[in-house]
Amino acid sequence: HRPGSATMRTMKKRLFATTREGEDAFLYTLSNQNGVQADITNYGGAIVNLLLPDRAGKLADVVLGYDTLAGYETDKAYLGAIIGRFANRIAHGRFTLHGVTCTLSRNNGDNSLHGGAIGFNKRLWTAKEISSNGAPALELTYLSPDAEEGYPGNLSARVVYTLTPRNELKIDYSATTDKNTVLNLTNHSYFNLAGQGEGDILGHGVTIHARHFTPVNANLIPTGEIRSVKGTPLDFSRMATIGSRISADDQQLKLAGGYDHNWIPDREGDRALVLAAEVHEPGSGRVLEVFTSQPGVQFYSGNFLDGTIRGKQGKVYQRRYGFCLETQHYADSPNHPDFPSTELQPGQHYRETTVFRFSAR
Ligand code: GLA
Repeated sequence: HRPGSATMRTMKKRLFATTREGEDAFLYTLSNQNGVQADITNYGGAIVNLLLPDRAGKLADVVLGYDTLAGYETDKAYLGAIIGRFANRIAHGRFTLHGVTCTLSRNNGDNSLHGGAIGFNKRLWTAKEISSNGAPALELTYLSPDAEEGYPGNLSARVVYTLTPRNELKIDYSATTDKNTVLNLTNHSYFNLAGQGEGDILGHGVTIHARHFTPVNANLIPTGEIRSVKGTPLDFSRMATIGSRISADDQQLKLAGGYDHNWIPDREGDRALVLAAEVHEPGSGRVLEVFTSQPGVQFYSGNFLDGTIRGKQGKVYQRRYGFCLETQHYADSPNHPDFPSTELQPGQHYRETTVFRFSAR
């Protein structure tokens, strides 16, 4: 790295624990000069802790997670993890690509969810400490073999987490394949900007810069329609608290038990990073802005959390104790030719970026 950058760049590594398979998983700490600290494990690429100042400078950990590696190994809520090969649901665990039908591992009723039974969230990634313009960065790579969970092609995936001096946690995803396949990578962090385990997220104010979303059926599979949010509780074009309309008499909210839908951020260029969403927690003043190159963002209000998870520092995660903004392609895209394509062909480079920018006001 460049001389003089040492003050900006801090990375520490320690043993997290040994996996059930007997391999060492590590915790990498990325920190910057503002006191922001992110602990990331190469097991599932999960963001384990994220310390952020409030408007008075007081730090709190704003992501849900586990104290132990065993927590991540048995996790069913995808806390903090990298999701692959395919974020969200694929109906009937099946799709057809150029006439070839692929059958996936089904782990959500009849659907395949978040990559199948053993997704990228349950893999031990190869980690390398790198730096990007003097900022600490962690490179994670994983080679997913042909037919893993039913997906075709040897897929070489790379995810780089960078903590910038502007209090941004940037996630760069890239991948290549040796056979036609589909791919949809995201990160599944649950945030509570008041502090993890400190109550529900219903008082958080949310803005989503999107005029449309993809309505779902009772299995949370998109119907294929691209629907306007106008006049519905899914309209977050002006900031509204998560709780203000979550119990409204609305068919989409009823089907999902709250918010668990894909919004389509308004964008002009195809690849440019756009500000997809902003969240403000009035008590602490903490703000999260989400920028992404991806065509969709799943806003999930933690409806399936039910108090059965004992998280960090003994905190119990009740319903809606965290929210996710999973930047991604639309659910079930391989079965919807009208949706932006999730196909990846040999010779093509998959590239997506998401930036979580934090501040306080
Ligand atoms: C995503 C899905 C939700 C749920 C969670 C994990 O956000 O959209 O329906 O499956 O993951 O519990």
